[in-house]
Amino acid sequence: MQILKLLFGSALLAMMMNHATPANGQDGPSAATLRQAAGDRMLIGAAIMSRQLDNAELAGLIARQFNSLTGENEFKPDSLQHERGKFTFAAADKIADFAQKNGMKLIGHNLLWHQQTPPWMFVDDKKKPLPRDQALANLKQHIDAVVKHFHGKVIGWDVVNEAISDKEGEYLRPTPAQKAIGDDYIIKAFEFAHAADPDVQLYYNDYSIEGPGKREKTIRLIKELKAAGVKIDAVGIQGHWLLEQPATQVIDDAIRAFADLGVKVMITELDVDVLPRQHAGADVSATQRSVTDPYKRGLPPQIQEKLARRYRELFELFSRRQGTVTRVTFWGTHDGASWLNNWPARSRTNHPLLWDRQLQPKPAFTAVIEALSDRSAPASSAPASR
Ligand code: XIL
Repeated sequence: MQILKLLFGSALLAMMMNHATPANGQDGPSAATLRQAAGDRMLIGAAIMSRQLDNAELAGLIARQFNSLTGENEFKPDSLQHERGKFTFAAADKIADFAQKNGMKLIGHNLLWHQQTPPWMFVDDKKKPLPRDQALANLKQHIDAVVKHFHGKVIGWDVVNEAISDKEGEYLRPTPAQKAIGDDYIIKAFEFAHAADPDVQLYYNDYSIEGPGKREKTIRLIKELKAAGVKIDAVGIQGHWLLEQPATQVIDDAIRAFADLGVKVMITELDVDVLPRQHAGADVSATQRSVTDPYKRGLPPQIQEKLARRYRELFELFSRRQGTVTRVTFWGTHDGASWLNNWPARSRTNHPLLWDRQLQPKPAFTAVIEALSDRSAPASSAPASR
């Protein structure tokens, strides 16, 4: 043993013998964790897939670092009710159990989206929109069963995901639900969710809504929902961002504008894409062919630093808006588990998160911890007013 210790060093040897976790049982150079650094000022979460919990090392990191979880795919309509009336809750339940055992909050993503939703809900066999009443009945049946199933386990639902159009001059996206039901499908979805569980929080979630065009449409939507007497607790800004854009000032303006309407703001799907791509945003159908994969062998130090600086600035902003920004959720845990390895182009090597593929914390992790720990940032716990 002494010889092995000399050869490998005692810390490394401990790691080799107990390969489930690094020697100090932590995920960084210090004992710091995101959940400790955030304290009770905001929830810090990650999106996960249930099978990731079978990896003891990753499951340990998730439980130590985060105080909330979102299912990356397994709470979506197609996962829960691919066939009408046949509910498949096992994978989502596994995430719910893990959250409960580890004292973590759980967020439901999502009740209605134009992606990953089974066709039977809104179109007939010929792909024609169903009659309004039938589509509404399908929507109600799904939302009712799912929200009730997770009663007491899920604290809040993304009720509608990505309803706002990316196109200039078009308000709502023409989705199967919108075509079958009409523009009030959003109001109906919120009403069905509220009726199924009056205590659960209800969110509207979308990407690029911090940018001026979609921001104005989001403001219109929140106002319309409120005018219709609908309960809406928060707006989720997805936060699939790039190294340089959007500017933090743009994000801050949106946070304040939404808060002025009397809703909380959550950053629900945060990641920072370091690879070249043709457009910003997160339209999952906007894939691209041209593939450049420049950081296959790792992220060059100067980009690593740029990423850390970007994360530091973002979390300084979120900290300044504490009380308004009540949750930040990363869309994944480590770089190897990010959807950005396969979108907008397939099979690339992206580095958008706080841990690398070996589960080692990156400089961006330290930057986030430091930004969250800096209590000198002027508090703005009152809803921001302008
Ligand atoms: C993505 C998942 O990360 C992928 O695994 C899946 O193949 C497609 O969906 N906006 C959302 C999320 O609201 O649900 C999407 O998640 C990413 C963009």
